[in-house]
Amino acid sequence: MHMRTLSIARAVFCAALMFVAWDAQAKSREDCEKIYQPQTGQSGKDVIWVPTEDTLVEKMLQLAKVTPQDKVYDLGAGDGKIAIMAGKRFGAQAVGIEYNPDMVRLGQCLAEVAGVTDRVTIKQGDIFETDFSDATVVTLYLLPDLNLRLRPTLLEMKPGTRVVSHSFTMAEWEPDAQVSSDSGHAYLWIVPAKVAGEWTFEPQDEKAREGAFRVKLEQTFQQVHGTAADNSQLMEAKLEGPRIDFRFPEAGGVTRVAGVVNGDRIEAKVTRNGRTSTYIGRRI
Ligand SMILES: C[S@@+](CC[C@H](N)C(=O)[O-])C[C@H]1O[C@@H](n2cnc3c(N)ncnc32)[C@H](O)[C@@H]1O
Repeated sequence: MHMRTLSIARAVFCAALMFVAWDAQAKSREDCEKIYQPQTGQSGKDVIWVPTEDTLVEKMLQLAKVTPQDKVYDLGAGDGKIAIMAGKRFGAQAVGIEYNPDMVRLGQCLAEVAGVTDRVTIKQGDIFETDFSDATVVTLYLLPDLNLRLRPTLLEMKPGTRVVSHSFTMAEWEPDAQVSSDSGHAYLWIVPAKVAGEWTFEPQDEKAREGAFRVKLEQTFQQVHGTAADNSQLMEAKLEGPRIDFRFPEAGGVTRVAGVVNGDRIEAKVTRNGRTSTYIGRRI
């Protein structure tokens, strides 16, 4: 009697296991679309749903140089495909923010199908009310005016954050790079540090032969111009995220400054008269 109860329990347990295994195996896009089947072009809160084609999704994530260290947010995630690829193929943590709750349920189901629920979350929310300030990469496929509404928030993000947009630009904020596929075009921007103002650079090595110098910087997005103390124009000034690089003529030679901006401070390697040493720049 006891043995019979045991074997019945074992049979029930095995059947349950087989059911779980079958259920896990059986999940496919078709199963998810039984929950909800979206139609390309269907309306959305601020923009319709049109999915980015797979090849371009991959190229966008490559353009942003996504790695497992990144946190990617797709704003207006649709069926979650950008977030899911960021997690599956690039190993990143990814979040898709989508307004339509049915699309969210579909995206969550597709994240399960892809086996990435440990790294990828598809959340219901309005992109204009959701906090995505911990993103290191932001992807967009919206509309020109929506990009412009997001632009001030994007420009306040940590310098070095990468923004990739399918099809639409950021008006006069010029892209840093772009990519194409048969299905479309995408743009990359790297959020620049804020460097405008007057800076004094002081050598950290007490035995440095040359002393402090001053530089005035003007900035339009990632474009930087400026002058050194004697009014000479800065040359080849470049700003990429927190990294700044420029040169200026001085005492018959060219001084080169290559630094990393951190708020009102720049830690820089300065090459003057063939010698490189560390300087700290402070905004006056
Ligand atoms: C053009 S689709 C892009 C989908 C996905 N990012 C892709 O590239 O495949 C835009 C998506 O944004 C969603 N959406 C529109 N307004 C939104 C808002 N204010 N907040 C969140 N999602 C929104 C739409 O429902 C739609 O799924």
